[in-house]
Amino acid sequence: MTQPEGLFITLEGIDGAGKSSHIDALEALFRATGREVVRTREPGGTPLAETLRGLVLGEAMDPLTESLLVFAARRDHVLNVIAPALARGAVVLCDRFTDATFAYQGAGRGFDLGVLGTLEAWVQGGQNGSADVLQPALTLWFDLAPETAAERLAGARLPDRFEAQPVDFFRRVAEGYARRAGADAARFERIDADATRENVWAQVDAAVRRRGLL
Ligand code: TYD
Repeated sequence: MTQPEGLFITLEGIDGAGKSSHIDALEALFRATGREVVRTREPGGTPLAETLRGLVLGEAMDPLTESLLVFAARRDHVLNVIAPALARGAVVLCDRFTDATFAYQGAGRGFDLGVLGTLEAWVQGGQNGSADVLQPALTLWFDLAPETAAERLAGARLPDRFEAQPVDFFRRVAEGYARRAGADAARFERIDADATRENVWAQVDAAVRRRGLL
């Protein structure tokens, strides 16, 4: 049997949109086809990147420092986990990736999108001997009104540095996601997250099948 091509899928959305709760089912869907599935997350996914995650989520810092740390974590993650897994033909399911940086640091914190684009090209460029900038094949964007997301998050647990932000911040983050999706419509699938868990899963399942990824 020839090795399948690696498949890189990311899940995105504002805090409280409910994306993480569908990773188990996505993993099961791909495993049932006999494929290797690598589940991971950002910031994080390697020991170094998880250490950087703790800093980004826990310590006050300026937006440039924040952006450099998330991209430093991403570099380690891409080199040591994502690119090798894709080269083996695995399905990589990643809870957040660079769209989150454009949405949170760019739109949310107001950091320079041009600088983020340069960092994206540096960090994701030149994988597996290719000159291309690594991008997900599919990004499932869980879209939910910031007010609804805030209600879902309220009282759920102790908020981290992002979850503690006011709803205005998430309004900007949501707009950031919408702009990113608009600029790369072929990569994004918008999931209406203002629905029951079963309905949201049905949308995810349909999106993966529609694209012939199973
Ligand atoms: P998240 O992935 O939602 O994990 P959890 O479900 O454990 O809260 O949290 C990660 C947080 O980090 C989230 O608030 C978004 C933020 N983040 C950025 O600000 N920039 C990034 O580039 C990434 C990947 C995440």
